[in-house]
Amino acid sequence: MCKAVVVGSLNLDTSITLERMPQPGETIAAQGISLNPGGKGANQAFALGRLGCPVAMVGAVGRDAAGDTLLESLQAAGVDCSCVARREVPTGQAFITVDSAGENAIIILAGANSTVSPADVEKLRPLLAQADCLVLQLEIPLETVASAAKLARSLGKVVILDPAPAPGSLPGELLALCDYLKPNETELALLTGLPTATVEQCETAARQLLAQGVGTVLVSLGAKGALAVTPQEALLVAPPQVKAVDTTSAGDCFTAAFALRLVEGETSLQAALEFANTAAALTASRPGAQASIPARDEVEALLAAR
Ligand code: RIB
Repeated sequence: MCKAVVVGSLNLDTSITLERMPQPGETIAAQGISLNPGGKGANQAFALGRLGCPVAMVGAVGRDAAGDTLLESLQAAGVDCSCVARREVPTGQAFITVDSAGENAIIILAGANSTVSPADVEKLRPLLAQADCLVLQLEIPLETVASAAKLARSLGKVVILDPAPAPGSLPGELLALCDYLKPNETELALLTGLPTATVEQCETAARQLLAQGVGTVLVSLGAKGALAVTPQEALLVAPPQVKAVDTTSAGDCFTAAFALRLVEGETSLQAALEFANTAAALTASRPGAQASIPARDEVEALLAAR
């Protein structure tokens, strides 16, 4: 029986490592290239599975080798893929550059992700009815995200939305369906039109989203940790210090690890954020998307070593 359902994207990532990002019009040499299973939705489902949560993924891939690779990766992490459709459209792809500080830039080609529709969401009703929580991102059509959130809310489930890639704004109706919204600082600035250079500015911007109906805003701040803003409090939780190698999927792992602690009944926001920060830090310390996501015992060991 699954405890969490992820509705979202699956991409085959082509990752290129570079000393630094190229300027517009510049040609530079890469240090390496690799193909990795990725996609924000699939990374979150993979992380939930690897951290020990019974989880199902809803999405679409093509009838191609990339689709096979992505399904094999999720199944290896114990994810139920019975609701991942195979479509006559190529599997989604992402092209990622990673510099020597571990920062990345990502270009996505939606492919089969663009075919995930509200009709696919209706099929997940029985799956969602057993689960406690629905996790969403924005690499599939927005109307599909909105209908999944609506269905989850009608069934009394917790809705967590990772608003990436961030649009200029989100419909108020969707924001009001989110128990948790997890932007990073850049996404928070895009969503609100407000500056987010400091923690205080992030809190002000997050409060604008609370005023539109979001339950709690979780701002992931990279090496500074995470800021949770609720109507009652603002809580900044620092992460363990690690050397960043590749931050790809660290945010996805943060969202999944937080969701895991929620479905496990964790009631302390501080404790859930410490767990999520630690899982994300481990992810950032390794290369790749799903390949970098830690197992539960690795997260527990680093938490215990603090
Ligand atoms: O969040 C990281 C992910 O974003 C990558 O795996 C890539 O596929 C893009 O979706």
